[in-house]
Amino acid sequence: MAGGPFYSALKWQIEAGADEAIGETPVDRFAEAPPSPPPPKVRPPAPPRQAAPSAPRAAPSSPPAAPLPAADPASQDAKAIAAGAKTLEDIRAALEAFDGCPLKRTATNLVYTDGNPAARIVLVGEAPGAEEDRRGLPFVGPAGRLLDRMLAAIGLDRSSVLITNTLFWRPPGNRNPTPAEAAACLPFVERTIEIVDPKVLVMVGGTAAKTLLARPEGIMKLRGQWFEYSTPAMARPVPAMAIFHPAFLLRSPAQKRPTWRDLIEIRKHLEDSI
Ligand code: URA
Repeated sequence: MAGGPFYSALKWQIEAGADEAIGETPVDRFAEAPPSPPPPKVRPPAPPRQAAPSAPRAAPSSPPAAPLPAADPASQDAKAIAAGAKTLEDIRAALEAFDGCPLKRTATNLVYTDGNPAARIVLVGEAPGAEEDRRGLPFVGPAGRLLDRMLAAIGLDRSSVLITNTLFWRPPGNRNPTPAEAAACLPFVERTIEIVDPKVLVMVGGTAAKTLLARPEGIMKLRGQWFEYSTPAMARPVPAMAIFHPAFLLRSPAQKRPTWRDLIEIRKHLEDSI
């Protein structure tokens, strides 16, 4: 039977989110020299604010969120590569070859899309978790199972939707992505939406909503409203709505009631746009 101090230390690390080996050789941190004292704090000059040139516009209008670092070389590469993709398979192949997102180095699998590339509805979630990373498919863990039930409640399933995420590789221990990691994935998310050209875009959770709408409000304010999502390459904007993330609904079941209303509204919009 498992036990002893080594097992307890390992279990503690896994519970704290350190569930991935990121190097081949173990490092004994206790044997290392103690860290040198931190340098005196100097406030760096404020960087110039720069609007992302391909940032999608969203209505109704209010001050946009701080833009992702568009000048980052990896995100510039990503933009050029994504712009050349004509199909979702082109994007998948480009992501398999892309080395501009450091998350790829710690992830097990690329997690790109699941569902129907000709769907009338695209759902964009946040990031793959442990189960998604193992299987290479989005939303296949506990939150994904609830998302399937939410879709079923309005007559949809994975054959009638396309599901993707704002990140295509799992952040180690499910930590928040850095702005550079998010910026390296964003052009591929945008290009995916452009190629599918859906009738409705659903942003699943606050991260997807903030990333795609480039707005400062949180999910509590953004959910349940219609926005217009567009990129410079799109012929017309797509109606877009944010909903609560199913992982949040698992923790806060009381929020299922407003989510049900949002899902009905999405269903109605799809029916009206036939
Ligand atoms: N949560 C997400 O946002 N996406 C996934 O793919 C899984 C969990």
